[in-house]
Order: sequence, then C-alpha cells, then structure tokens
Amino acid sequence: MFKFKNLVLIACILIYSCHMSTTPNNQDKPMTNSDVHSFAKPAEAVVTHIHLNLNVDFENHILKGFAKINFKNITGTHQLILDTRDLKVSKITQGENETETKYQFGEEVKFLGKALSIEVETSTTQVTVYYETSPDAGALMWLTPEQTAGKQFPFMFSQSQAILARTWVPCQDGPGVKFTYSADITCPHSLMALMSAENDTLLHKDGVYHFNMPQPISSYLMAIAVGDVRFHSFGKNTGVYAEPVMMERCIYEFEDMQKMVDAAGDLYGEYAWGRYDMIVLPPSFPFGGMENPRLTFATPTIIAGDRSLVALVAHELAHSWSGNLVTNATWNDFWLNEGFTMYFENRIMEKLYGRDYADMLDELGFNELQETVKELGDTSIDTHLFLSLKDRDPDDGMNDIAYIKGQFFLKTVEHVVGRERMDVFINKYFTEHAFQSMTTERFITYFNENLINGDTASANKIQLEKWIYGPGIPENSFRVKSVLLEKAAAQAKEFIAGKPAKELVTKDWSTHEWLHFLRNLPEGMSREQIAELDKKFHFTMSGNCEILCDWFQHTITSNYLPSEAQLEIFLENVGRRKFIVPLYKALVKTPDGKAFAKKVYTMARPGYHSVAQQTIDEMVN
Ligand code: BES
Ligand code: ZN
Repeated sequence: MFKFKNLVLIACILIYSCHMSTTPNNQDKPMTNSDVHSFAKPAEAVVTHIHLNLNVDFENHILKGFAKINFKNITGTHQLILDTRDLKVSKITQGENETETKYQFGEEVKFLGKALSIEVETSTTQVTVYYETSPDAGALMWLTPEQTAGKQFPFMFSQSQAILARTWVPCQDGPGVKFTYSADITCPHSLMALMSAENDTLLHKDGVYHFNMPQPISSYLMAIAVGDVRFHSFGKNTGVYAEPVMMERCIYEFEDMQKMVDAAGDLYGEYAWGRYDMIVLPPSFPFGGMENPRLTFATPTIIAGDRSLVALVAHELAHSWSGNLVTNATWNDFWLNEGFTMYFENRIMEKLYGRDYADMLDELGFNELQETVKELGDTSIDTHLFLSLKDRDPDDGMNDIAYIKGQFFLKTVEHVVGRERMDVFINKYFTEHAFQSMTTERFITYFNENLINGDTASANKIQLEKWIYGPGIPENSFRVKSVLLEKAAAQAKEFIAGKPAKELVTKDWSTHEWLHFLRNLPEGMSREQIAELDKKFHFTMSGNCEILCDWFQHTITSNYLPSEAQLEIFLENVGRRKFIVPLYKALVKTPDGKAFAKKVYTMARPGYHSVAQQTIDEMVN
C-alpha cells in the first residue's frame, strides 16, 4: 500500500512538473498539486472561469441557481473534480448544449466536505452545476434586520477564506488555483448586491446585478454581500459602501483611503485591480477585515470615531499585492500572505503617519507575538513560519506566527540588507509573480537568487532557514522600541506603585497608548484599583472595541461586577473573533465566570458567524 501510494505520488509529480514547464500563461498554471485541503486535481483538469447565476433567498437562507464552469483538460482526464461542502446538487450538464452528465460525491471529510467528481468527455471545456446552498452554509451569514445598524432590512454576507468558498460555490477550493469569474445575482428589490468584482455603485430597482472579475483570483477571494447599503466616493478609485445610518461615521473614519491606495502604489507598484472600495458590514462579521479583491469587507468595530484603527484598511489594501496578486499556494504557506501584508501595512502607516506612529503598531504586535509563542510553546512546530496543517482546519494557522513572526522576519531582512535593496526586491517579487501562487520553497529559492545573490554575509545574518523551519522568535530578530509606548508603560507602573489615577499623565494618548497602558497593568488588580481607573477614564463605557476588549479582560479577572452588564452587551453584539475569544477564555477560567459565559453565549451564539461559533463552542463546552 505504502509503495503504491509512492508510485502514485511520483506519477503525479511527473505529470505536474511536465505541465508546469509547458503551459505558457499564468492563468492555466496550477502552482501546486499538494494542497491537503482540497480534493481537486488541478494538474489534470483546472478551472479557468466560473459564471454564477444565483438567486438570494432571504426567506429560506439559501442561494439557488447554477455555476457554469469552464476548465482546461490538461491530461485528457474523464473527470473534473471540485470541492463542495453541504451543497445540494440537482443536475450537472456538460458542453454548451448542456447534455446531462453523471456525477458522484466522495465521502464526507471533516473540515473539507466532499469531492464532487463530474464525468466529462475529453473534449469538454464547460460543465454547468445546478445547485443550492444549505441554510447552514459555513461561509454565509444571514442576518435579521435587528442584527443590522438600520434595523429595517435583512443582510447577508460571505466569508470564504480559508476553505469555505466550497460551501456556496462548487469550485477548486485551494489557493493555488486561479480563475476569473462573473455572476448574475438576483436579490430583493430594496437591497443592493455587491461582490469581489466590478461593482455598480447604484441600487438596481429590479434587484438584478451583474458582476465581472476579469483578473484571475483564488476561490477564497470570491465574496458576496447583500444589504441596504449606499456608496460614498473618496477619490479617483476609492470609496465606501455602508448602511445609510453608518455612512456619516464611515466618511469621517476612512477619509484617508485614497491616500493609502496612492501610498501603497508608490511603494510596491501599480494597483492592479482598478477600484479599491470597502464595505462596512454589521458587527457580526467574524474578522477585522477580509481582502476581497476590489471590495474589502470590514468590521464596524474599527470605527472608533478618531481614525485610530485604520491600520486595518492599510492591511487589507496591502493584500491587493501580497495575497491577491502573489498568493500563498497552500494554507501551509499562509505566512507568505500575512507576513508580507503586515510588513507592507506598516510601511503604508509609516508613509502616512510617520515613524513614531508605525513603531507603536509594531511594538504592540511584537509583544502579542511573544505572548503567542509563550502560549504555543517556544519549541512547538506551530511556531514555524511554514506550517503543517494536514488533517487540521487551516483556521488553526491563523495566529500571530504567520502574521507577526512573518512580519518580523521581513523587518529583520530589511535591517540587514537596507531598505533600498529590500524595496527593489519586493517590487520585483510582486511584479514577476503577479497573478501566480507561491510556495515557501519557491520563495526561498527566489529570495536566495534575487536578494542574497551570493552575499553570504547577509545570508548568515538573516538565517532564513531558522525563521521558516524553526520554532520561536529567532535571536537575531529585529526589535522595535516605541518611545510613545514607553511613556504609557511608565504611567501603568506609577499607578501600580500607588499614584492616583487622576494624577496620571495621559494627555493626547491614542488608542495604542491606552492599549499598552492596559497591557502593562498586572492581572488580578483589586476591585478598588479597577473602580478608580474606571471612574477616571470611563473604560467600561468606551466606544472603542479594542480598548473594551483589553479592559474587560481586567474586569473579568478581578471579578469587577459593575462592568458585567456592558460586557454582556458587548458579547451579544460583537462577533469579531479576535475580541470575543480572549473574553470567553478569561471567563471560563472560574466556575462563576464559566456559568456567566454559558448564559451569555446561549443568547449570543445565533448572532455569531460559523467560524466564530466553531471556536467558541470548543471553549465554552
Ligand atoms: N485574510 C485575513 C483574514 C482571514 C485569515 C480570514 C485567515 C480567514 C482565514 C485578513 O486580511 C486579516 O488578516 N484580518 C485581520 C486584520 C488585522 C491583522 C489588521 C483581522 O481580521 O483581524
Ligand atoms: Zn491579512
């Protein structure tokens, strides 16, 4: 059995490498055949375009219609294999004249769903899958009017990354496959449909919307949102979509969006996607942001009223290069997406707001990385940049390692080779791999050939292999010291040493200084200390979700009851996983806290997206 498997593997590699060296254009080039999270065999038959025709049914919480899938048969196979999860297929046809064809579902595999094998003639280049989604489709979230800001209309949105696209579109759901897409979407008349594609900025009275994404993208970047939203333009190719009652706050908060896009282009090459717009979703959106091409999806929790959390916009924008243009080939290579993006994000922030500001963000990040490494264990293989997520949910890889260890690897490289050489390298890397996928291994080769290029002194200082295939934070890591944060930490120290809260020097602090202050206060302060801080700084009533999240962790560990009602409101309204996870985690540490967590979670759970539910279920039960 073992030998047979090996033979198959070798055969696959041969076929694959053959294909790699003979296909002329990027779009037809599946850069990997070793994606452990996809059933598809793109080296045999690869999807090149998907046309969706879907009706958005708010009553039954389903999308229903068909997907017309164009593909290229590379090896003359009689099967096109797609990924699916919880899709109800009624019919599949092949060819333009739509002859019905046979198909078969494979066994259900945890996290992955089922392979869908479609019988095709070797000359076939198109199949049409008639299907509907399940009301529990993992990617989709259907909101009642009460769960929106306006409270009048329902809302729905998708979150496809990492492997949830297959719950609403039958596709080759691995990041190593890229295809173009188009769509005809029908939704209720009063609502607007948007996708990660060319969008119309106006409401269509008939509820019918046409979309086109002319550049090839990976499946995890397919996205849809339907709701009562309007558009506001910020400049030549940027704007924001939001519910009408949110619009004014959005216009203020994201005013620098056009400047960000221009700054990013100046740094690493022309913006490749035409427009860069953002949609601000209801608070149940499980992430801070999602870099859906042309249309970033964002949480409303970044609207702090003072523009202090807009680094998230820089982050999702940066993905337009690192991720959407040059894409991690598999989820094991996730650091190539997120590490580069964190590095790039910080460069945008530095360009717009200066070095001191960017240093604050960097140091906060580095401290979080240290905490994460402590939690995972500094010899854990989960602290390697290159991950091994076989038989695991790729969601497991979504932590500070890919993001911040990845970022600090690149900062260390910059420190060794100098910024000028670094920027030439990154520009070249993006340009030469645009619309392609990248494995860690190929990155290393490219890095050695194009940046190191025989400079062994620099290579020895960088120690690339240690960073990528080794645990923890390497000793040679670049370190930041933010002068502004240092002052905030000093105030925390003084408070603990007995200085009254009202005498602390906190004038002109930004969100980041407040966060650093809160993080420098010890766990388990007395209730009197908590009360004193709250009286002076009104943390419990803060409108800033970042500050609330850190503050509530203190009130929970100190069992400070006056904050409990606000904590409950927070957990029942905000579904952003980054905030709710540490709060539930802190709560379940004590029996009373756990009882409270269970009570609140029963109420809150239906308002969380499936990826947040999955995480919290494990913690609370
Ligand atoms: N692409 C990620 C979100 C993601 C990663 C979703 C993996 C599903 C699986 C996005 O770009 C991201 O990193 N979001 C962060 C933003 C932050 C680092 C500025 C978030 O949501 O917190
Ligand atoms: Zn990201």
